[in-house]
Amino acid sequence: MIRLEHIAKSFGGTPVLEDISLDLAPGTSLAVLGRSGTGKSVLAQITLGLLAPDAGRVLVEGAPLTRRTHRAFMARTGVLFQGAALFDSLTIWENVAFRLLNGPNRRSRSTAREAALEALARVDLAPRVADLHPADLSGGMQKRAGLARAIMGAPEFLVFDEPNSGLDPVTAREIDALIRTLVSDLGATAMTITHDMAGVRAIADTVMLLDEGRVRWQGPVAKIDTAEDGLLSRFLAR
Ligand SMILES: Nc1ncnc2c1ncn2[C@@H]1O[C@H](COP(=O)(O)OP(=O)(O)OP(=O)(O)O)[C@@H](O)[C@H]1O
Ligand SMILES: [Mg+2]
Repeated sequence: MIRLEHIAKSFGGTPVLEDISLDLAPGTSLAVLGRSGTGKSVLAQITLGLLAPDAGRVLVEGAPLTRRTHRAFMARTGVLFQGAALFDSLTIWENVAFRLLNGPNRRSRSTAREAALEALARVDLAPRVADLHPADLSGGMQKRAGLARAIMGAPEFLVFDEPNSGLDPVTAREIDALIRTLVSDLGATAMTITHDMAGVRAIADTVMLLDEGRVRWQGPVAKIDTAEDGLLSRFLAR
């Protein structure tokens, strides 16, 4: 269980998040919706402990996420940052296996490569892709590689920031389906940030709509069509 309590964050005196509280129940998949610039990525970074809130706190299984507990938390967490963010100078398999090649539980290169090939297969990337560099891949393939890296080591928590932005609709739907399968297979607790309603329906159990620094609407995905919220309706209409 990840719990956010009364999170607030400003930049240069401009409030971005004001009093956000949220429970991520074990094994559930949350979609975070909101207009561009509403602070979705900021919220993800605070949830991951990569950015300190001005007020409020993040609890992981009841214990505050602090500088001391952060490393252990990240070892249990898979992340896909907005824009995939692969290391250009590393091959795809080295990117995917980054955790195994560098972490405290470092493995041999051959073991790490084996694990990377398995993760690549799970995201439908052919073994030949392993030795290419990120620049050699299409945008959709880079997202898949990013997902493979996120699921390395079967993490308990997953955070995906716009996993299907900039993709054609067919590839976007494939990525959505893949995320749902990965979350189900891993039994992971997931937070996915997206603008995309088809993605929300495919991925989420619960939905949160952020607006003007606050939680504007929150509820089960089955309720989004009957929710009486003007902004949510506008997202649905797109
Ligand atoms: N490190 C930072 N320093 C200053 N301002 C920041 C920083 N990070 C984010 N912001 C500001 O916070 C606001 C929210 O940014 P954020 O990236 O979270 O938006 P978003 O909802 O993810 O948007 P998008 O849908 O376009 O990705 C923006 O106004 C942004 O400029
Ligand atoms: Mg963002």
